Order: sequence, then structure tokens, then C-alpha cells
Amino acid sequence: MSPQQTQRSVAAKNGKRATRADGHRFDDMYAEWDDEETIAAIERALSAAGEVVRLEANADFPFQLRDTQPDIVFNFAEGIGGASRESFVPAFCEFWGIPYTGSDPLTLGICLDKARTKETLSHHGIPTPEFQVVECPDDVQRTLPLPVIVKPLHEGSSKGITQRSFCTTWREARDEVARVVERYREPAIIEEFLDGREFTVAVLGNDGDGRTLPIVELDYSTLPGGAQPLYGFEAKWVWDRPQKPLDIFQCPARCEPELQRRIEEIAMAAFRSLRCRDWGRIDVRCDRTGTPHIIEVNPIPGVIPDPAANSCYPKAARAAGFSFDDVILKVLAAAAARYDLRVFD
Ligand SMILES: Nc1ncnc2c1ncn2[C@@H]1O[C@H](COP(=O)(O)OP(=O)(O)OP(=O)(O)O)[C@@H](O)[C@H]1O
Ligand SMILES: [Mg+2]
Repeated sequence: MSPQQTQRSVAAKNGKRATRADGHRFDDMYAEWDDEETIAAIERALSAAGEVVRLEANADFPFQLRDTQPDIVFNFAEGIGGASRESFVPAFCEFWGIPYTGSDPLTLGICLDKARTKETLSHHGIPTPEFQVVECPDDVQRTLPLPVIVKPLHEGSSKGITQRSFCTTWREARDEVARVVERYREPAIIEEFLDGREFTVAVLGNDGDGRTLPIVELDYSTLPGGAQPLYGFEAKWVWDRPQKPLDIFQCPARCEPELQRRIEEIAMAAFRSLRCRDWGRIDVRCDRTGTPHIIEVNPIPGVIPDPAANSCYPKAARAAGFSFDDVILKVLAAAAARYDLRVFD
């Protein structure tokens, strides 16, 4: 059966029974995972392109993938434990020679390591905040200007990033390092805190067809009084409730044309320098002079289908005139074009 003759695609997701290899558990362990509603919405969108088979990204995945032999895998599995957790699904696709959407295992691994990401960005001359990586409080060097932010090195969805991550003294930073290391059993990254405007940029497509979607700005005036200006765990998961959504996103961002141009330029430069493919979301924050820097790169952006929910990528897509289904099918088409699988165009 040649890839062009059938139109099956696979939604890879994570099984609820997975555990980290080291057995360590913590309560926000599954924060990056998609809920059933999102998985079903992606499945529905993909069904416009052909038969869809769901595969869990669990221990059976390599064999289910081999036996299913899909024409292409739509990968949105976040994985569990370690900086390589997003790399397993694409690595097995490559192992079995099966096409898949999105970035390759190397890019996914690098982007889940905030320090490696920043080293790559710096090499390419793309602004990113100064940082240090520490494995314990005694490693902390007081070289960065205060305030700083302390984050786990390998997490996403603001796991481990709370109001306390913003530190105005080195004592607070050391305490926060101790908390991160104890909770996640991984190093912490300490970054210079940029207190300017914050944006996030959705990128769709590759090379000649690659484009940024309308920029999303995070409006910190919507946070509760006295909150530190950061989009952390409380803003994503505590203060933002389905019954009372936090009205934090402004899209399109109200930016003067020069700032908009610079943000789009560094977002695309970051996407390319990390060799992201098909889609991605780039977090950007300005320093006090208004210069935009890259905070981090998300090669598997979160997509919540409910327009009432705060989900940056679908929000940017709607501002560009694309529905949720359009986004999923455009990502599929971008990947299919790379493999010359024309049936998905
Ligand atoms: N160096 C920094 N300066 C200022 N604010 C920062 C910095 N690093 C992180 N932040 C704030 O913390 C938030 C979360 O940080 P970051 O994007 O690195 O975490 P994440 O868990 O990977 O996020 P995501 O939910 O996008 O996966 C940012 O959106 C920003 O508000
Ligand atoms: Mg982020």
C-alpha cells in the first residue's frame, strides 16, 4: 500500500497510565497533556483528510505504530519525564520510516531544554535573556542583575513557574532553586527577568510558505492586584477558570509597526535557527528598552478547541481567519508537502 493510496493519519497522545521512568511523581505532572476534548477535536479535524486511527504514546506505541502503518502521524504527544520525552514519538516514526507532522526529535529535545535553546539562539545572534543553569542552591552565582526568574530546565505549561519564581533577592532565588530541584528532580535555570511587554507568536508552515500569525499580547493588568507580571501557573491554571476566564490575551497585539516587525522577525529567526517544522509558538518579551527577546520556543504548541478558552495558537489562527480545523489541516498539509504526500494538500 503506497502512502498516496490511503489517507490514514494518526493522533498520538499520552496514555493516562504512564509514569516517569524514575517513578518520581508530582501533582502538576500531567499539566502539558491534552484533555479528551482536544484530542477528539484534532481527530475530527483530521478526518476531513482520511481515516484517523488514535494511538496512545505509551509503551505499546512503537509496535502499534509499526502494525498500523499510517501514511502520516499527526504528532502532539507531550510525553512524560526527561528532556527527551517529546522526542520518542517522532523518533519511532523515523525508526519505522513513517512520515509525521512537526519538528524532529532533535529539535523537540533541544526546545525542552531552555538552556540549550538559548545557546542556539545566542549563536544565531537572536536576543534572549542572560541565564545560568544550577543543580543545587550552592551552585548559584550572583552574576545576573536582579530581579531574576527561576524555572525548571525541562518543563512546559508553566510547571514550576509561580509567583514565587520571580525573585528580587539571591536568598529568594536560592530557595526557589531548592524547590524546583526537589520537586522536579532536574536542574533549574535562572534568567534575568525582563519586565517589558510580553507577546507570543504562532508560526505556521515552512520555508517559502512559513508565516507568523497575528501576534498575541499578554495584558498583565488583568491579573489580580499585586501579582507579579508573569504568565505562570496561577495565571494559566488558577486565576483562569472556565466560569470566569482571565481576559489576558490581546490579539492582534496593539503594536507600533516597527515593534511588530521586530517581533515577527525574531520569532521567525528563532523558528528557523532551531529548525522547527510545520508549526510552533514562540514566546517573546521586551526588555526595559523595548527590545524584544526570545523567552522560549514551543515546537508542539498547545491547541484548545473551545474559543472561550485561553489558548494562544488557536486565538492567533482565528485572528488570521483560520478555524481550529483549518489549523490542524494546514499543519498536516505542511508536513505532507515535506514528504511529497500530495493527497493531504
Ligand atoms: N526571563 C524572563 N523574563 C521575564 N518573564 C519571564 C522570563 N522567563 C519566563 N517569564 C515569564 O514566565 C512565563 C512562563 O515562562 P516560560 O514560557 O519559559 O514557561 P513554560 O512553562 O515553558 O511556558 P509554556 O506554557 O509556554 O510552555 C512567561 O510567559 C513569562 O511571563
Ligand atoms: Mg512559555
